[in-house]
Amino acid sequence: MIKQYIEQNKERLLDELFDLLRFPSISADPKYNKSILQTADFVANKLTKAGADDVEICITPGYPIVYGQKIIDDKLPTVLVYGHYDVQPPDPLELWETPPFEPTIRDGKIYARGACDDKGQFYMHIKAFELMMQTNSLPCNIKFMIEGEEEIGSSNLSNFVKNNISRLKADVVLISDTSMLSMEHPSLETGLRGLSYLEVEVIGPNRDLHSGVYGGAVANPATILAKMIASMHDEDNHITIPGFYDDVLELSPQERQALNEAPFNEEEYKQDLGLNELWGENGYTTIERTGTRPTLEVNGIWGGYIGEGAKTVLPSKASAKISMRLVPNQSSEKITQLFTAHFIKIAPPYVKVKVTPHHGGEPVVTPTDSVAFRAAEKAIEVSFGKKPIPTRGGGSIPIVALFEEILGIKTVLMGFGLDSDALHSPNEKYDIFNYYKGIETIPLFHKYFAELSIKG
Ligand code: BES
Ligand code: MN
Ligand code: MN
Repeated sequence: MIKQYIEQNKERLLDELFDLLRFPSISADPKYNKSILQTADFVANKLTKAGADDVEICITPGYPIVYGQKIIDDKLPTVLVYGHYDVQPPDPLELWETPPFEPTIRDGKIYARGACDDKGQFYMHIKAFELMMQTNSLPCNIKFMIEGEEEIGSSNLSNFVKNNISRLKADVVLISDTSMLSMEHPSLETGLRGLSYLEVEVIGPNRDLHSGVYGGAVANPATILAKMIASMHDEDNHITIPGFYDDVLELSPQERQALNEAPFNEEEYKQDLGLNELWGENGYTTIERTGTRPTLEVNGIWGGYIGEGAKTVLPSKASAKISMRLVPNQSSEKITQLFTAHFIKIAPPYVKVKVTPHHGGEPVVTPTDSVAFRAAEKAIEVSFGKKPIPTRGGGSIPIVALFEEILGIKTVLMGFGLDSDALHSPNEKYDIFNYYKGIETIPLFHKYFAELSIKG
């Protein structure tokens, strides 16, 4: 019945996703304000058309949250579906083979910003809901909460959740916004890293200087910043901020072994990235480095002259955006404080420094022994013909920890993307196969979740 519905509606299911992908809903750039509001309207409309009740575009101080629900029986379990309709900026534009907001199919894949993260993935849930409504097979209550600020830190979502505790009451949160190992090796992520994001500024002379007249006598903020950043990893690629690893939960040898049993081809990984060698913290495998260890990355660095040609200048300032990925039991607030104190301490006397925290989020580990997790395993096993492998994801979805903290609800991360889908990069893509497979798997999740919940 599921496969038949998908087959009969194949073209329309894809056309609608394409319409959604055409909105440039870039939350980071205020220029796109109107497009983002239009995207929220589109999502709300589609939810209503699919059969949801009480659909509302909930206004926040930032971008709206689209809510909708279908309560069929108070005694049945309830699934809260979360996703985000905002996307990352598409820059650098010149590296896209086709424009980011004109979805194009090449080689069975949909190329567009948001194709995988997260429009292609949350839209599967609206279409799976439509399918269950049309085929009279919705087995449980369902609530949707699709937000527009995930890519900028979900800063208004925690207040919305706090103010809507009873409206959001559910037995599990279901999210498709993560990756699988591959289509041959379906997997379920069982953890997400946390995040501390900061901006730093190194300030030297009170104005840009002639680098010949003053060079040699005045410290160059760009050089100092580069040195300070470089000093934050030692020769083993450990992070040198005092106390940084204090709260890190080390995995047991058994847990490490289980993680490393996942099929992972390092050669393919390198090839996909065009690298000869990988890099990372000594003593850990690539899977452990991205899934279970904290990191520090420069996300952007600038200062001085970066225009056409040459300009002999000794810049007055240099800056960087730096983020740290966190693992259980690190706290984003504590790490932000440790970083700030350290950065100020290592600044040499010939510069001043300024540290501005941006946003943060806490790491999470999701249970693998819950009814909901078993339902997800079973759904994937049936639709893919293979039992999913549990893995740890390297990315962050800050709201997941808050769902647990505020609502007391655990999450199942049933993502259908691939790490190689180029999320946040040029030429982001999502396989049409994965899109339909997701629409096929989601109703199975609801079915098994309802069945297993009743059985207990
Ligand atoms: N969907 C991603 C997170 C993700 C991707 C988790 C792949 C696991 C696998 C999400 O949209 C994202 O990009 N989150 C940001 C955090 C946010 C606060 C900007 C991230 O991870 O950088
Ligand atoms: Mn996402
Ligand atoms: Mn993202």
